[in-house]
Amino acid sequence: MQKKWWHEKVAYQIYPKSFNDTTGNGIGDLRGIIEKLDYLKDLGADIIWLSPCYCSPLADQGYDISDYYNIDPRFGTMDDMDELIAEAKKRDMYILMDLVVNHCSDEHEWFQKALADPTGKYASYFYFEEGVDGHAPNNWRSYFGGSAWEPVPGTTKYYLHLFHKKQPDLNWENEELREKIYEMINWWLDKGLAGFRIDAIINIKKALPFTAYNYPADREDGMAAATLMLKDAVGVGDFLTEMRDKTFAKYDAFTAGEVFNEKEEDIPNFIGDNGYFSTMYDFRSTIFGESEKGWYDCKHITPDDYKACCFETQKIIKENGFISTIIENHDEPRGVSRYIPAGEANDTCKKMLATMQFMLRGLPFIYEGQEIGMENVDFKSIDEIDDISTLDEYQVALNAGLSEADALEAVKYYSRDNARTPFQWDDSENAGFTTGKPWLKVNPNHTKINAKSQINDPDSVFSYYKKLTALRKNPEYKDTVVYGTFEPYMEDESRLMAFYRRGEEKTLLIIGNYQTQERTIALPAECKKVVLSNSDKVDITSDNKINLSGYQAVIIEI
Ligand code: GLC
Repeated sequence: MQKKWWHEKVAYQIYPKSFNDTTGNGIGDLRGIIEKLDYLKDLGADIIWLSPCYCSPLADQGYDISDYYNIDPRFGTMDDMDELIAEAKKRDMYILMDLVVNHCSDEHEWFQKALADPTGKYASYFYFEEGVDGHAPNNWRSYFGGSAWEPVPGTTKYYLHLFHKKQPDLNWENEELREKIYEMINWWLDKGLAGFRIDAIINIKKALPFTAYNYPADREDGMAAATLMLKDAVGVGDFLTEMRDKTFAKYDAFTAGEVFNEKEEDIPNFIGDNGYFSTMYDFRSTIFGESEKGWYDCKHITPDDYKACCFETQKIIKENGFISTIIENHDEPRGVSRYIPAGEANDTCKKMLATMQFMLRGLPFIYEGQEIGMENVDFKSIDEIDDISTLDEYQVALNAGLSEADALEAVKYYSRDNARTPFQWDDSENAGFTTGKPWLKVNPNHTKINAKSQINDPDSVFSYYKKLTALRKNPEYKDTVVYGTFEPYMEDESRLMAFYRRGEEKTLLIIGNYQTQERTIALPAECKKVVLSNSDKVDITSDNKINLSGYQAVIIEI
């Protein structure tokens, strides 16, 4: 595997709307990010991915872009963006934007022109299709609920939106449209962006013709999940190759693809030395337990399932590429509330999960607030939730017969808004996020969990993350942490997550006691050095066993 400039870095995701508001409008902004660059540098973050801050009606929080060439005034100006890129460069940091090109906003000028002339050139930038017998062209259900087709006013046609109806899908079969997208990507790269996180990209290839792909209904509504079409949509690689060659490759840009359900044999194509992307995320644990019926029917993940998911990815990826590890992002609940059984989350557990994430082979992405151990929100009413996906899933649960209380209970565990509440900078009224009214409820636990109380506390979750980022860059261990091979240790042992990382010169053993009970584990070889632990005491006995306290994690050199 070729070594790349970004392999040894640490990445960090910012959700601009919820990060830091400097204007008092209740919405985070680019100046707020500039203000916190030193905080991020201190944490050890190098690559910063910004969720969308382009012009947008914010129907899906910016994942509905109405102008790819401008910053939404609520987030700031293009001058702010240029300054952010420049200030990041000064600190040896890299800025990534979110590339959302499966769809745009219905308020984008292309779509407006398409509506104005439904048989004209701009209509062919989208999928404007004739209905069948007065109905939509097929029975696909959009990812956010309801039909994936919306009537085009004044015609017998429908337009496709795999996501919300305010997110019409772009027609990638149209070469002119593709060229417009590449032009835009290069415009941003010329500005000095280091690359992109690439949104929902696997959806750009559709199963065509649409009318040939009706699937058996999977819910009472008679529709079928649009994801089903992905297995019949052959040839996405051609688009991805073209995009890479006409844009990213020319700049040695870093790209992280949002790719789900990749087949093992496709991994080298996606993230091999000459893959479509630099890396993609490991979503195995986030999609675990999914149900076609909806969130209310999903199976919660256990510690053993979590380990199995992480290990499965490692075994499949091997040297075939470089995956990106996450424990949460803006589409998921907080990792500590999900992967630690209810009632058990504390700082020790948070540090254990962090140790596992950082020591698996791959590029770690920290999601804003993860580094201070932010947790899910105890939403008291559906009215406190803004996210369109959660609102849809709540309705799905009600339709399935759940009471309002049970439906809320079911969806709040998975709600994307758990990760979108304002960043908890301090214990003041709005957690130091804004002087105005925050756009989304601040988690009341900010009085206990906040950055200010952790930055100078050597035992805090934040300080522990700093140790992990430092270890990744430590010349003594870097080669092993970044490139060492992965091999499980005592894999069948329940509630134990242990593995080796074997580098050319050093071998590390990582052990996480994934339970509250103490336990004793035999070590496979003599411990040469304790590299890091989330507990002050690392108790190795004379007969080469290690006594672990509840949720203790250790990294030892053997
Ligand atoms: C991706 C984004 C998500 C968004 C969707 C549609 O999954 O991460 O937030 O809603 O794409 O753009």
